[in-house]
This record gives sequence, C-alpha cells and structure tokens, in this order.
Amino acid sequence: MQGLIFVTWEKYLSERFSGSVLREYRDKLGNALPTALLASRVYDDSVLLTGVAAASNITSVPVEILLREFGRYFITNGLTRHLCAYILTQVHSGRELLLAMHDAHQQMSRLPDGLTPPLFQYTTRNKNSNELTLIYDSPRKLCSVLIGAIEGAAERYGEQVHIFERTCMKRGNSVSRFEIRFSASSKEVLETREQSERHQAKQHFAQYILSLLPNNGGGGVTLAELQKTLALRGIQQERIRPALLLEALRHLHYAGLVATTANHAGDDLMHRRYWRAPTSDPPSPASL
Ligand code: HEM
Repeated sequence: MQGLIFVTWEKYLSERFSGSVLREYRDKLGNALPTALLASRVYDDSVLLTGVAAASNITSVPVEILLREFGRYFITNGLTRHLCAYILTQVHSGRELLLAMHDAHQQMSRLPDGLTPPLFQYTTRNKNSNELTLIYDSPRKLCSVLIGAIEGAAERYGEQVHIFERTCMKRGNSVSRFEIRFSASSKEVLETREQSERHQAKQHFAQYILSLLPNNGGGGVTLAELQKTLALRGIQQERIRPALLLEALRHLHYAGLVATTANHAGDDLMHRRYWRAPTSDPPSPASL
C-alpha cells in the first residue's frame, strides 16, 4: 500500500494517543518498519495490518475502531489535504468526493507502483439526491476504514452522514453494500475567495506542468530539467522555484497523473525522474 497511508497512520497514532504509544508501537514492530516511512514509497500491506494489531494491543482499543477512526482521520488531516489537493479542490461536498473516488482511485492504479486502491461502484436515485449506494469489494476488506473515510468526507464539508451497511464481506457476502445519506449541516464550511483563487492558480500551474512532461517512452525528466524547460519558455524564476515545482509534481502524483522513480533502488530527490502516467488502461488480452 502507498506510503501516504502508513505515514498518516503514524500521524493518527501520535495525535490520538498521548504519551509513549508511538514509541511503544515502533519498539514492538522493530525491524518490520523502515526507520523513516516515506509517503512516496510503497510498503507491504502486512506492515499496516501487523501495525494495527500492535496498536490495538498497546492501547486496548479494538482493531475495527482504530481502523474507523483512522479512515476518518485520513480524509480530514492536513497532510492528505495538502498532498491530495489536486483531487480535493475539485469537489465541494461529501457525496461529490465519494463519487469522484472511483475515477481518482482508478487513476492511481495506473501508476507503475502497483497500487490497488478500491474501485467503488455506485447507484444513485438521481443526480441531485443526497443519497447513494456504494459497493465495496476490495480483497483487503477494510470496511471500517471505508466507513471512517465516508464520515471524514462529511466532516470535511461540514455535513452529517448516515451510513447503513446492507451487506458485508466480513459476514460472508460477496461485496459490502452501503446506503449513504448526506445532509447539509447548518455550519457551512466555505472557502474564502482568496483561498479559492489560490487553489485554482495552483491547479492551473499543475496542469501546465503536466502538459510539459514526457510520457513513459521519454524516460522522464528530473526537477532540474523541468526547471530548465520552464525557464526556456520565459517563465519568471520566482514562479519556478524547486519548492513550487515539487509541490505541483506531488499534487499530480497523488492524483495518479504523474509517475516517478521514487520506488526505484537508489532513488533520491536530485535524481528522481517524473513522467506523465497513462490515463486509460491498455486493452485486455481478451479484447485483442
Ligand atoms: C471519501 C473518500 C475516500 C474513500 C471512501 C476512500 C477509501 C479508501 C479505502 C477503504 C482504502 C483502503 C484500501 C482498500 O480498501 O483496498 C483506500 C486506499 C487508498 N486511498 Fe482512498 N478513499 C478516499 C479518498 C482518498 C483520497 C482523497 C486520496 C488521495 C490521494 C486517496 C488515496 C488512497 C490511496 C493512495 C490508497 C492506498 C491504495 C494502495 O496503496 O493500494 N483516497 N481508500
């Protein structure tokens, strides 16, 4: 699973439990965990599952409750808000976020990192209804994370949500089916005009960067090469500072639109290469 999940999981543990829980947790997992977890790397699923069991043991909070709280935290915490901004700034309600996650998760699965995010199926009564049915069938069976993430989606937009679990893989059904009803709360969480303009400007800049990147066949470009290309196009130096380029590349990466060599042996930020990820799947052998 992608490192972002692992990094936010440890952030959740340190914010949720005071004192020495994170240290005890790390001591317990020992060598199973790398010393520094990186959001851009991919780690084995088993590390998370062992980690959740260890955290449950240390805190006496049941595994399913930890997973649900984590799902909620994953959507509402600052790091996801920052790294997933490309996706998050395009939606304006909990329901829209859920509906966007089929395509957004699917796009992440087109990166060469081998991610397998859940591809939800939905049915909705009509376009404007606040209700939807979501079908979840990931082999990881992380229904509690899903429920928490739906609650987090509502919280993010100041909404209430009711979730009815109609079928569940953990009770032997082939898929989990949730009926979900969002309702607007009196407390509106609106962006100021300045925030919205800032997000739009970042979005446009990221789209421009994406248009300049080579596709896979080109072997990618480094940050320095990208900066040079932009300078040759006459873009002012202050607009193409490495920090700004890196931010745009990260936002595109967490939307599954830019692939990197972050998971290659010997990778570092100086030599990391970036290219445009495909936006459609190759034809399946059966259709050829
Ligand atoms: C309400 C919205 C969302 C829901 C309900 C949701 C749900 C989930 C669930 C349940 C998983 C666990 C993996 C599994 O079940 O197989 C997951 C994984 C993941 N999600 Fe989401 N998610 C949401 C939004 C986001 C956003 C905004 C991002 C931003 C980048 C994101 C990125 C990921 C990634 C990277 C994984 C790990 C996939 C892998 O490494 O294979 N999700 N998501």
